Amino acid sequence: MTASWKRTHTCGELRAAHAGRTVVLNGWVQARRDHGGIYFLDLRDRYGVTQIVLSQAVLGDTKLGPEYVLSVRGKVSVREGSNVNRERPTGEVEVLVEHVEVLSASPVPPFPIEEQLDTALDTRLRYRYLDLRRGNLQRNLIHRSRFIQSMRRAFEREGFLDIETPILTKATPEGARDYLVPSRVHPGEFYALPQSPQIFKQILMVAGYDKYFQVARCFRDEDLRADRQPEFTQLDMEMSFVDEEDIFGVWERVMQATMREACGVEIAVPFPRMSWDESMERFGVDKPDLRFGLELVDAKAWAETCEFQVFRNALASGGRVMGIVVPAVHALSRKDVTGLEEHAKGVGAKGLAWWKAEKSGGAGPLAKFCAAPGAAESLMKLMGASDGDTILFVADREAIVRKVLGDLRNQLGRKFGLAKAGEWRFTWVTSFPMFEWDEDSKRWFSAHHPFTAPVDWTLGGPSPDLGKLSSRAYDLVLNGWELGSGSVRIHRADVQQRIFEILGIGPEERQRKFGFLLEALSFGAPPHAGFALGLDRTSALTLGLDNIREVIAFPKTASATDLMCGAPSIVAPEQLAEVHIRTVTEPDPKP
Ligand code: AMO
Ligand code: AMP
Repeated sequence: MTASWKRTHTCGELRAAHAGRTVVLNGWVQARRDHGGIYFLDLRDRYGVTQIVLSQAVLGDTKLGPEYVLSVRGKVSVREGSNVNRERPTGEVEVLVEHVEVLSASPVPPFPIEEQLDTALDTRLRYRYLDLRRGNLQRNLIHRSRFIQSMRRAFEREGFLDIETPILTKATPEGARDYLVPSRVHPGEFYALPQSPQIFKQILMVAGYDKYFQVARCFRDEDLRADRQPEFTQLDMEMSFVDEEDIFGVWERVMQATMREACGVEIAVPFPRMSWDESMERFGVDKPDLRFGLELVDAKAWAETCEFQVFRNALASGGRVMGIVVPAVHALSRKDVTGLEEHAKGVGAKGLAWWKAEKSGGAGPLAKFCAAPGAAESLMKLMGASDGDTILFVADREAIVRKVLGDLRNQLGRKFGLAKAGEWRFTWVTSFPMFEWDEDSKRWFSAHHPFTAPVDWTLGGPSPDLGKLSSRAYDLVLNGWELGSGSVRIHRADVQQRIFEILGIGPEERQRKFGFLLEALSFGAPPHAGFALGLDRTSALTLGLDNIREVIAFPKTASATDLMCGAPSIVAPEQLAEVHIRTVTEPDPKP
């Protein structure tokens, strides 16, 4: 027998067609209005809100408050005329309550359960279960769930197997620090939480599983930002006997199906492909926002003949002079330009030279160098500028020029409203560099990860210029965000050994950390390639949100703490002793 308090309908379900029916609703008290002995209550669950009407006679001496959990039984009644609430799907009806039961009470919550809230983030995270009752967060998590389910189905249709890989494991380097877990059984030894399933998925290819995917939790101890959490989720996959094009094809089909099912959006495939070199040259960044132009233009041909010493010197010392042409329709005031220059300096520029283009000589700091006959015209022609446009120039080392103008371009795109919501411009960025030099530690690092195949299996022969080697790594970029990364892998143990050598990982360390992988690769490894999509980022971006916290049920703060459960926390000395750990500093006992 069903208990009498159990709901017959959810709070989002009732319509005029239910009029006259006796129903039972369960939910939270959202709002309460007292009309002299008659109470109008909004009852809420994750499906919606329904108005219920309670008389003093039915209520008796039962006490109600916000966020109390109720069961109400009553008759559905149609609301007339101006009483209809057109904002709500249930707005045509109300339930005239005949019986009310309090299932659970609540103190007054520290903030109201409303969509628009200016409560401090820390308070929201401390009481996340209340925060999660808000409509916007519920919609975000529902979207995330649908998105991931659609994507899973798409991979199943493509013939992929869902295989889990260990969480207690050995370090898989992806460029961050590891989270370590001490072993009780093996004193002084540690597991590492995976930064990604990278090595295991490659070993699954050696094992012949051919097409693997997993919704995988990854752990990285790194500096947090709006698009980074210490633990996050990837749609991780790997395939055998394939190259880049096969990976792109699968993902284009999967993204198209997922965007259609979960977002109701038709996207065009195939996605454009662009090399890393091209992306850096045209947009200054490796994750270009293709929703607008404002591309970088090389000003070398003009700069090398001009009288402006800053430009000449930059070129003479091997640097670059590049500019962005801001069309006249996007008027920039002097104050705007000063603001942009300050910003550019903050990003590393020494200055931001500007020129208001006019064939007659124009205005701005560069005007005096455009006064000679033909100088203005030749600069305009080179930059593709028209009368009245403003050109912003940076002269410096190539990396600085790209960084500053790439940043400025995104800033201008936002300022002029060119980056429109609802426009989905995907692109593959391919052929990343193989290695990056780190000045601080004076050593090479993998630009992607050390398992990425080089374009040239000989790695440039006996005396290679490591900075110039291209890899077979690729990123999927959407509207200026990196959604995911992948690569064709090294399936040859000898080449993998050589990469470790270049990265300064000596024979002993190589054996200790990666011996099992090298051994596996020696036992018949198929050519393979793969990719991982950041699901938090993708869910957030497809909702138009810019912080992944909003699509994670229990996120961490910028200092990697969970304010609700109070993690990390100190543990009892006996527990530490059990795992053979003694701490060097006494932690502050937290309140
Ligand atoms: P990568 O390290 O580029 O590649 O990660 C892939 C994608 O995961 C997301 N991501 C994150 N999301 C939230 N918080 C973080 N801290 C975070 N770090 C990464 C991003 C990123 O594009 N094993 C390789 C993939 C492969 O080669 O197959 C890897 O993990 O969206
Ligand atoms: P100055 O001659 O130093 O007064 O600079 C003249 C203009 O050139 C100013 O608008 C500066 O912001 C700009 N400027 C200075 N250094 C650079 C640089 N490296 N790149 C671009 N513009 C610069």
